[in-house]
Amino acid sequence: MKKEPKEILITWLRDAHAMEKQLLKNLEKQSDRLGEYPAVQRRVAEHAEETRRHAERLESCLEGLGSDTSTFKDLMAKMGGASAPMGLALSPDEPVKATLTNIAAEHFEIACYRSLGAAAEACGEATVAAVARQNLADEEAMARFLEESLPETTRTYLAHQTRTS
Ligand SMILES: [Fe+2]
Ligand SMILES: [Fe+2]
Repeated sequence: MKKEPKEILITWLRDAHAMEKQLLKNLEKQSDRLGEYPAVQRRVAEHAEETRRHAERLESCLEGLGSDTSTFKDLMAKMGGASAPMGLALSPDEPVKATLTNIAAEHFEIACYRSLGAAAEACGEATVAAVARQNLADEEAMARFLEESLPETTRTYLAHQTRTS
């Protein structure tokens, strides 16, 4: 059965919303465990707030497209973020692995918002396209931060291991 492009766009918006909800959980869990990495901890907490806004923006896009909110909630409960790749559902408690997972997650989000932006433009949904660009800019900035801080996080982690072993 063929689907209308707008129907597909709505499905993808829901997928992105489920992804953001899952990532929000991961970021909140992680920020409690990053006490020895204050710069990373601050940025993770900040990105958790951004992630909350990403989800809210997607909700208003769905409302704008006339998507029924109760159906939406049912769907969310069923999927539980299953649309994101396996690794994104994991939240390792060790900071180096957590950072690697976060980098992969940010790049998945970047790809997701590039695609969502193109789909929105193809459907003539300028508001959705603008939201995709806004979210994309946050993900790109977060990916950059994580990549730049990874060597330092790794060195600090190793130094802590040597000290405690
Ligand atoms: Fe996001
Ligand atoms: Fe993100």
